[in-house]
Amino acid sequence: MEAGLLTNMARNLLLQSQIKYLCSSHPKSNITFLKQTSKRWQHTRAERRELKGVMKAWQIRRYGGNEELTWSESVRVPRILHPDDILVSVNAASLNMLDIRMREGYGRAMINAVRNKERLHAPQSEFPLILGRDFSGTILKTGMKVKRFKSGDKIWGTVSPFRQGSHAELTVTSESHISKIPTNLTDVEAASLPYVVSTVMTALCDVGELKENNTASKRVLIYGGSGGIGTFAIQLMKAWGAIVTTTCSTDAVTMVSSLGADHVIDYKTQNVQQELMNMKGYDLILDIHGGVDFSFDLLKKWNNSKFVTIKTPFLQNADDYGIVPGLLRSGASLTANVLQGFKDGRSYRWAMFKPSSNHLLTVKKMIERDEIRPVLDSEFSFKEADKAYNKIEEGHARGKIVLNMQREDHP
Ligand SMILES: NC(=O)c1ccc[n+]([C@@H]2O[C@H](COP(=O)([O-])OP(=O)(O)OC[C@H]3O[C@@H](n4cnc5c(N)ncnc54)[C@H](OP(=O)(O)O)[C@@H]3O)[C@@H](O)[C@H]2O)c1
Repeated sequence: MEAGLLTNMARNLLLQSQIKYLCSSHPKSNITFLKQTSKRWQHTRAERRELKGVMKAWQIRRYGGNEELTWSESVRVPRILHPDDILVSVNAASLNMLDIRMREGYGRAMINAVRNKERLHAPQSEFPLILGRDFSGTILKTGMKVKRFKSGDKIWGTVSPFRQGSHAELTVTSESHISKIPTNLTDVEAASLPYVVSTVMTALCDVGELKENNTASKRVLIYGGSGGIGTFAIQLMKAWGAIVTTTCSTDAVTMVSSLGADHVIDYKTQNVQQELMNMKGYDLILDIHGGVDFSFDLLKKWNNSKFVTIKTPFLQNADDYGIVPGLLRSGASLTANVLQGFKDGRSYRWAMFKPSSNHLLTVKKMIERDEIRPVLDSEFSFKEADKAYNKIEEGHARGKIVLNMQREDHP
């Protein structure tokens, strides 16, 4: 048994014996003390979990389908390992396509390599694995070097894929992955966005080089606008003044139009390639769906235009061929596309999720100015996470699917 757990148990026993003593000796003052004490005990469920050292979480013990997801009430509470770590009580957490892919084993070669390196500092094993890459929550504890946040702060943020995830009562992340929560959102609304924000802003801003002051009137194509990534990307681009074209299936056309998209192509009933070819060239194409390399030709020539895809073969190649051969293969395929673009003065780029406090802070302010709103497909209680996984796996979610840890049917 761990020393920390023993200390917590001893602390609990001491508190209980204090209560017993006061009950037997000072009946009146005891009532006040007991009220205060019980308030403290009720204070947060999360604090009790942390003291006990165990929590509730969804885990997988091997890769596979949703049947691998298991509910456990005795999962070890994650520990602060680094000085910039933060222990968070999760109020709500969203589901992302990456959760489904990671459940199947996607990315395991690269993710395990990094996890194993981390073992030098603290033992972590692949299984049982907790999925969930973002959350809204309350800080319970901070590492020694955390300067910008303190316990009790309400935050939103992401959890790196190398760590145990947020589909749990408590999770540990780093100061660089979070910001204060937007003040005008509920916990559920806030939890829907951090992973999406970090991915889209990496793709459009860091890789695509779009900023608030250079985006106005730029022509942007968002390929796949009705899901979690697309609904946020459309709003960000519209808030910065871009002219946005997007694609989706028939039942989502009204919804993506309501987010401000200027041109919506229904890929179920229209010939997307033909429709796009009839339009003027683009300054930036964000490929969310994958397999749309034909659209590279829709970029303006010699205009610093960029094709940015978030559907990269990077992790899959490492899984399929091993890390070094996979990296070589990925490098070769990226180089071939980049070279193809050179001859027409167009740029081909890959983008992947990157955590960023700054991006979260920028979007927090935009949300508070009502420039962006969360788009929620559905909400499930924590205990219903298996149903939420089934729902996201069906595809065609309209925005995000979120777990509400505070809903009443939470056991
Ligand atoms: N590189 C990274 O770091 C990174 C990070 C996050 C996400 N991603 C990837 O980004 C993708 C999108 O994520 P998401 O959360 O937005 O997923 P999502 O909510 O499922 O949205 C998928 C989008 O693709 C569209 N789509 C589905 N099938 C299509 C088809 N046959 N033809 C054209 N469009 C189609 C959907 O349109 P309809 O539903 O209207 O049919 C929807 O707009 C995922 O594959 C995910 O793995 C990558």
